[in-house]
Amino acid sequence: MRPAHPAAPFAVACAMMLASTAGPAAAEERSVRELVEARCQNCHGMEGQSSSPNYPKLASQNAEYLQRQMFNFKLGKRRSTEMKAQVADLSAAEVQALAEYFSSKAVIADVAFDPALADKGREIYLNGNRDTGVTACATCHGPRAHGALFLPRLAGQHASYIERQIHAFIDRTRQAPDMVMHSVVTALTEDEIVALGQYLSGID
Ligand code: HEC
Ligand code: HEC
Repeated sequence: MRPAHPAAPFAVACAMMLASTAGPAAAEERSVRELVEARCQNCHGMEGQSSSPNYPKLASQNAEYLQRQMFNFKLGKRRSTEMKAQVADLSAAEVQALAEYFSSKAVIADVAFDPALADKGREIYLNGNRDTGVTACATCHGPRAHGALFLPRLAGQHASYIERQIHAFIDRTRQAPDMVMHSVVTALTEDEIVALGQYLSGID
């Protein structure tokens, strides 16, 4: 059950999920549902709405971005021992189908514990910080933080995951292939990072 075309539309993933009558070729390829139930669910939840902030929400995330990150984990370009083990044996078709599955799910935003901080985060998100030379996040992640293609959606993501990733970009333990995020976030203060997490986790 491989999609016929590398850019196969979401319909193909649906067909893969619904095809319970296994033809001869399907024996070796696992269905999305099997993979999600057996693996991803344990940390990210069946609907990609992970309840623990240790694990990013995958629901509503852009499919191209999800796909790229899974390949980054596979190739060791993004380091996570937990994730590397999950994706090591996945075929390209399985990676694509999983990305489309989670991308199609609705994400539920969190409630900010500190609305005043969230307002400060909104200001930095939309306008950056001219004094310290921080570029407005909206320039790349979009005015509503939905991202596009390889630019991740940030709206509705767990606050502490956002904070952790910003720290990982700052100290280069997460290397985006072109290091664009490192230069953007280096000048952020600790307060600003927390504020951004508060703002972004609460919007959809
Ligand atoms: C044992 C727990 C665990 C399981 C099971 C797991 N993941 Fe993850 N996943 C993580 C962690 C932890 C991260 C964040 C890694 C980091 O901090 O960089 C992550 C991150 C990701 C990301 C990157 C998200 C982003 O916003 O950048 C994707 C995509 C992903 N996982 C997909 C999957 C898929 C698909 C499965 C099932 C095949 C799966 N994961 C199973 C723990 C898990
Ligand atoms: C010049 C474009 C650009 C700007 C400006 C930018 N980002 Fe990003 N950001 C990216 C790209 C590209 C990635 C994906 C990196 C990768 O592929 O690993 C990313 C990834 C992220 C991630 C990781 C998301 C996840 O799901 O793991 C976070 C968090 C983030 N950005 C926050 C911010 C914040 C906060 C700002 C503003 C201070 C900002 N970004 C400004 C381009 C940008």
